[in-house]
Amino acid sequence: MNIAIIGTGNIGGTLTRRLTTLGHNVSIANSRGPASLQDLAAETGAKPGTAKEIVHGADIVIVTIPQKNIPHLPADLFADVPETTVVIDTGNYYPKQRDGKIAEIEEGMPESRWVEKHLGRPVIKVFNNIRAQHLLEKGLPAGAPGRIALPVAGDDPVAKQKVMQLVDELGFDPVDAGGLDESWRQQPGTPCYGADLDAEGLRKALQAASPVRTAEWRA
Ligand SMILES: NC(=O)c1ccc[n+]([C@@H]2O[C@H](COP(=O)([O-])OP(=O)(O)OC[C@H]3O[C@@H](n4cnc5c(N)ncnc54)[C@H](OP(=O)(O)O)[C@@H]3O)[C@@H](O)[C@H]2O)c1
Repeated sequence: MNIAIIGTGNIGGTLTRRLTTLGHNVSIANSRGPASLQDLAAETGAKPGTAKEIVHGADIVIVTIPQKNIPHLPADLFADVPETTVVIDTGNYYPKQRDGKIAEIEEGMPESRWVEKHLGRPVIKVFNNIRAQHLLEKGLPAGAPGRIALPVAGDDPVAKQKVMQLVDELGFDPVDAGGLDESWRQQPGTPCYGADLDAEGLRKALQAASPVRTAEWRA
């Protein structure tokens, strides 16, 4: 598949390495511009560009930048991109450590709904609850005991199915975590966050989650 990755830090860099290894045609963008991506391009074969350039022709666009930087993406990023292009959001709201206060999220809007509103496109939420190093190293073949499961939340069943297939290809059990309104179940502070659970454990953790943000994850 043609996969565009906006953000090439811990998660974006990891996905660039894993997805190129799996044979996908990956293009990459960051905030500093294509010239700053030469090393990652040489290492992986991914093609650098600007965010506006790489979304064209992509089957999947992965947005993996700090939450506070989402409003800085070009306002018309998806203007000429077909609706069939799937958009993934890997983000988490870190008010204390990084993002400052985002009032709508503090008031209860799911983090990915806020991202979706800024992007003007529906998103699928995934890869937000696993550490980058584990995403890089802990994938296992389907059926392997202890295979880590990842929650996938989103409203479009076709888009979600595509993303669930990609999660499986990367070596993780995809678990349907419901629509985006349910995606608070996988946000920071919930039982599944950073827990590396198997599919059964993940389903239980999603059920046990509380919609009330814990103090640690409030501004
Ligand atoms: N770290 C983890 O283990 C982990 C796990 C799951 C989810 N997450 C979440 O995933 C997201 C990314 O996390 P990360 O740890 O990978 O971040 P990171 O290492 O800080 O990398 C951020 C990347 O975003 C790029 N960026 C920032 N603003 C941009 C803009 N306006 N346009 C294009 N690119 C921009 C940066 O480019 P420059 O370097 O050029 O500025 C950099 O490549 C966050 O929401 C985070 O909470 C992180």
